[in-house]
Amino acid sequence: MTSPEIVRSVSRMQALSREARREGRSIGLVPTMGALHAGHLSLVAAAKTSCDVVVASIFVNPLQFGPSEDFSRYPRPFDEDLRKLREAGVDAVFAPSVEEMYPAGAATTVYVEGLSERLDGASRPGHFRGVATVVAKLFEAGQPDRAFFGQKDAAQVAVLRKMTRDLLMPVELVVCPIMREPDGLAMSSRNIYLSPEQRKQALCLRRSLARVEERFASGERDAAKLIASGKAAIAAEPCMRLDYFAIVNWETLEPLARVEGETLVAVAAWVGETRLIDNVVLGGLPTPIGSLQAPS
Ligand code: PAJ
Repeated sequence: MTSPEIVRSVSRMQALSREARREGRSIGLVPTMGALHAGHLSLVAAAKTSCDVVVASIFVNPLQFGPSEDFSRYPRPFDEDLRKLREAGVDAVFAPSVEEMYPAGAATTVYVEGLSERLDGASRPGHFRGVATVVAKLFEAGQPDRAFFGQKDAAQVAVLRKMTRDLLMPVELVVCPIMREPDGLAMSSRNIYLSPEQRKQALCLRRSLARVEERFASGERDAAKLIASGKAAIAAEPCMRLDYFAIVNWETLEPLARVEGETLVAVAAWVGETRLIDNVVLGGLPTPIGSLQAPS
């Protein structure tokens, strides 16, 4: 098994991408913040099925963390991540420093108006500006034909989809399904923060979505009623603090009164200090228009 090249500089990353392009090879980029789990690796697997060269990035992006969030304690098991990416067969790992991505004096950011203030953006001010800015820079560095994201972060997908369209970026976004633990908890790098007790409590996120799915399957289309049943499942777990439970249009993230066509049901809640998210798409394809599926 050949080791992937670890790329630290933007200029080297751009040179590698140019070389691949010159050879007529397509490039797939999998942006991550490391602390990799099977969810991240499913994106790599999807990239490998449709791209000649696969680059994974590991960069804990300070710009997308709020001042009281977990930037400094975010897990950074770099050697273990590297081993996983080697086994998954990536060609290069782009792992720049903060100074490389944000040179002193950098003053330009990418802000997707409207969408950036919805769902997670409402409770995490500045978060989506940070995400859009770093992903735009990662695209400049890796020059991918396709970039792979998880449905797990559905609002992030909506923001990035809008960014690529608005800025005419020649990148296809591919959205891959949510990978879950055997008991249904959505995989997340933040799950390691949970105590065994909190880990059990956190299952109510998935349960709340399952409740909505059941009511939808039995014919309920009224968003307020569906939301009420989801919220009740969270309220049944007294240690959880709900952030939002929303039924929205997948693309605009605007609230809907009725479920018609492809609809995103998204939940965010705190257990202790840890904020967790999960979602499900009702009434349509499991992933948005034009997306490929990760192999299951
Ligand atoms: P991170 O949280 O590391 O996630 C990297 C990618 O993995 C995202 O596209 C995310 O949606 C996907 N992912 C996370 N958990 C998943 C799961 N259980 N199943 C499938 N995919 C999953 O999201 C980010 O990093 C950052 O915001 C980033 C896009 C890298 C920009 O900094």
